[in-house]
Amino acid sequence: MSQLENLALFQHRIDNFLKQKLAEISINDPRLFDAMNYGLLIGGKRMRPYLAYVTAEMLDLDLDDIDPIAAALECIHAYSLLHDDLPAMDDDDLRRGQPTCHVKFDEATAILAGDSLQTMAFEIIANHQFKNVNARTQIKLIQMISSAAGYQGMCGGQAMDLAATDKKVALEHLQKIHRLKTGALLQAAILMPASCREDLPEQTFIGLQEFAEQIGLCYQVHDDIIDITSTEETLGKPAGSDLDSNKSTYPALLGLEGAIEKEQLLFQQALSALEALPYNTRNLSNFSTFIIKRAH
Ligand code: IPE
Ligand code: IPE
Ligand code: MG
Ligand code: MG
Ligand code: MG
Repeated sequence: MSQLENLALFQHRIDNFLKQKLAEISINDPRLFDAMNYGLLIGGKRMRPYLAYVTAEMLDLDLDDIDPIAAALECIHAYSLLHDDLPAMDDDDLRRGQPTCHVKFDEATAILAGDSLQTMAFEIIANHQFKNVNARTQIKLIQMISSAAGYQGMCGGQAMDLAATDKKVALEHLQKIHRLKTGALLQAAILMPASCREDLPEQTFIGLQEFAEQIGLCYQVHDDIIDITSTEETLGKPAGSDLDSNKSTYPALLGLEGAIEKEQLLFQQALSALEALPYNTRNLSNFSTFIIKRAH
């Protein structure tokens, strides 16, 4: 039994929605289509969709309006993984317990599948017939996911991550890398649903933002930790990959104990941010516990 309430339900919900979106595509190149399917649908914890759904439930939003947000987030995430694993980036050959996309297919196909999943994210939000989200907010959602994914967010962080390889960077710099490459999309998973509530008090939005920032960073600190402490079988991706590539990570900079202390601090700060919110934040606090305990 998972500690996360309704995890299986929301995983099922997003998988069905994504399958439906892929089924709507008319197939030009079957190999590219297969690689998109492979990158998007095989495995994955679906943490970004989960966060979007539980935030929306907490704010009493219609979940039918959250499906396209959750799907777009997962498309961007899947694309980021296809590209992250490429020889030009982390050069990993295992992902979600399967050969990485470029190993299963080829590099060009993995690049194009990532590109296609990225644009599909924007397409899904732009094309969706929302029930309670007006056109202005719909554009706002596209703006939010664009900046979370692009130069100001994930891609910017990935570039900084590559530039920090084989180097010892300052802790503040590493924090910025992690906030961008991983934190930005997780933050969007919380703030995009929040933006669908037109009447949300600014203080509540700021509180959610504070929570999202801490938990987004914490997610990547834990990813760095389990790269060392977990096994390839459990991770479904190569263990010790960061060490082998001489990546700048929290354990590399602070030692394993230091990294664990840092994630505990971020976890506490995330919980404190939740305390100020006038909602039942149980699912968000359970999420925080889940991500610092997860072994994969
Ligand atoms: C792995 O993300 C890469 C990071 C941004 C830390 P996840 O841990 O969410 O991977 P999946 O989607 O469950 O495979
Ligand atoms: C990835 O960080 C962040 C992304 C934007 C994909 P990592 O390179 O540490 O992710 P894993 O460990 O390969 O999943
Ligand atoms: Mg990487
Ligand atoms: Mg990687
Ligand atoms: Mg990692």
